[in-house]
Formats: sequence, structure tokens, C-alpha cells
Amino acid sequence: MTTPQDIIRPDVLAMTSYPVPDATGLIKLDAMENPYSLPADLAERLGAHLAGVALNRYPAPRPADLLAKIKRKMQLPDACDVLLGNGSDELISMMSVACSKPGAKVVAPVPGFVMYEMSAKFAHLEFIGVPLRPDFTLDADALIAAIDEHAPALVYLAYPNNPTGTLYDDTDMARVIEAASKSLVVIDEAYQPFAGRSWMPRAAEFDNVVVMRTVSKLGLAGIRLGYMAGRPSWIMQFDKVRPPYNINVLTQATADFLLDHLDVLDAQAADLRAQRAQLAREVAALPGMTVFPSAGNFLLVRVPDAAVAFETLLTSRVLIKNVGKMHPLLTNCVRLTVGTAEENAHMVAALKKLAPN
Ligand SMILES: Cc1ncc(COP(=O)(O)O)c(C=O)c1O
Repeated sequence: MTTPQDIIRPDVLAMTSYPVPDATGLIKLDAMENPYSLPADLAERLGAHLAGVALNRYPAPRPADLLAKIKRKMQLPDACDVLLGNGSDELISMMSVACSKPGAKVVAPVPGFVMYEMSAKFAHLEFIGVPLRPDFTLDADALIAAIDEHAPALVYLAYPNNPTGTLYDDTDMARVIEAASKSLVVIDEAYQPFAGRSWMPRAAEFDNVVVMRTVSKLGLAGIRLGYMAGRPSWIMQFDKVRPPYNINVLTQATADFLLDHLDVLDAQAADLRAQRAQLAREVAALPGMTVFPSAGNFLLVRVPDAAVAFETLLTSRVLIKNVGKMHPLLTNCVRLTVGTAEENAHMVAALKKLAPN
């Protein structure tokens, strides 16, 4: 008789699945989703558009029209090719697989996006995390020293970073790119709609850079679509490890339709940027709370006790993310997704319960 214990890798046996809490009945402010849905008339037209999709056919593996439209609408450089992923999670996974030569390494600032490390481990790459400074700015000297020491295959720079919200200094970014001349630097712009700055226009300028984005934070987390722009020589290699039909027909058709209505999603992002500023002001005014500057649709906040804050908000039906145990630098930190004005007001009212009387 065979059991999973006989077959599965020991490190996988020891893992737990990626935790996603049940948000039923809660105000969901834990995962940086856009809280707005599509306007009803647009949703109806999208429905009609999707009704015409051939569900009996496999999707186009490299949908030329959609790729061209993404390039045009998202203003990707002409000299770049584009690779699509089932979320940028899948792009990260493809890069890990394609780079997993024996002994290959990945370097990234920590605390950072957890999938860089998880995906590296899945593909047997060694992950080296380089701590940010206590104020969550990039320690470029330490990162460059780690790059020199480890000669990693991949260096991730989330611009801005999750869960800290930091938008790294552009001079530091340029120094890291230069120092990593023997690595591929992946600039992850998942939160670009809220950042106001981008390295995308320079994606083809360097021979060691790709720029990755997602539509998830823009309001389309459910369709799972990430895209990566870079020189054709890189994109061509990662495309080889892409599951052939990774972007399903409904996702392709939805993206194709909504790329003609980006103004709607852009307006929602603009609203959330304004909400972010207001939420930051209100939370910073509460006693005992430190709000870190954020260029994403979320705020990292240090509270007196992150576990108590999480539970207190939960009793007020607000689900946030307690990141306090993710990394020593994040002790007693929680991450608050920016929601609608009403959701944010509810969250602030709940946070007030934490204030000492
Ligand atoms: C920095 C960063 N990159 C990538 C992702 C993954 O995005 P996607 O939904 O496209 O898989 C996230 C999701 O939270 C993120 O924070």
C-alpha cells in the first residue's frame, strides 16, 4: 500500500496550505481587493459579451489580439514582449521553475510578498531575505551586498512593497539593478494603480529587468490575470514553462472587454487613493497607532497589540490582516486594506475601541 507520506516531498508534507480566512458576513479588508463592483450597465454588457464565448474550445495559448491590447492600453514599451499568468502568482511560479538550476538562489527584501519565498521553495531555489530598515525603506547597501555574495538568479523588488506599502527610492532601485548585472531583477508593480510611479516605461532599457503587473488590485482579482513585460529574450524562455492554456476563455474575454473601459477602473483607483489619505489621517490620529507611508491600496499600522486589534475588529465584523508574526520588523503590525468610505468609517470606529480610555 502507498501513502502520501511515501511519495510526497518531506518539505511539502511539513507545509500547510496557503491560509485564506472565511470572510462570510464580514467587511473584507484583508486582501487588498478593490471594494467596488462594475457599474450595473457595464456588468450587463460584459455578461452579453461573455455569452458569446466558446466554452467548448480551449483558450488561445498566446492570444495575439489581447496581448497587443494590453500593450497598448497599459502603455507597455514597444520593444517588450508580454507574458500572461493566471495571476502574477503564476508568473512568479514560472520564473522560479525556469531558473531552478541546482544551487540557484532568490534574493528579495523582507518583509515582502510571501509568494517570492514560497515559490522559490517549491522549485528548490534557496531564498535569501534581506531585511528592510526599521522604517521599511530599502537597505540598498545590504541588498547589494547579498547580491554580490549570493549571485542570485532572481531579485524581486515589489514597487510598492507588500505588506509595508513602501515605494522604494528610484536611485536605490537603479543601484540594485546595476549591481544585479548577473541576475534577473523582477520589478513587481502589483499596486501600480495606487503608486503614481512606474518602472514600466524603462522595462526594455535593461538587459536584466522584467516588470510584472496584475489586474487584481485594479478591481479584477477574480479573473486571475497577471502580465509581465520584458525583452523578448526573457519572455521567450519563461513562456516555455507556461501551462499551455493557462488563461481561460472567460478571463481572456473579460480582459478584452474591460480594457476598453479602463476609465471606470481608473476612477475607482483614484477614489481609493483619496480614501487612503483620509484613512491614514484618521488612523494616525488614534492614540498608540503608527501609520507607515503607503503607495498601495492598504496601510501598514503598528498598534499596541496586533492580536487584540485583529480580534477587536473581528467582533465588529471587520476582517483585516494581522502581519505581526510575519517578520520581527512587523511586530504588532496589522495591514488594513482601503475600502469604501463606509467600510473605512466602520473600521476606524472599531479601531477606536482599542484606544485606552
Ligand atoms: C506584491 C504582490 N505581487 C503579486 C501579488 C499577486 O497578485 P495576483 O493576484 O496577480 O496573483 C500580490 C498579491 O497580493 C502582491 O502583493
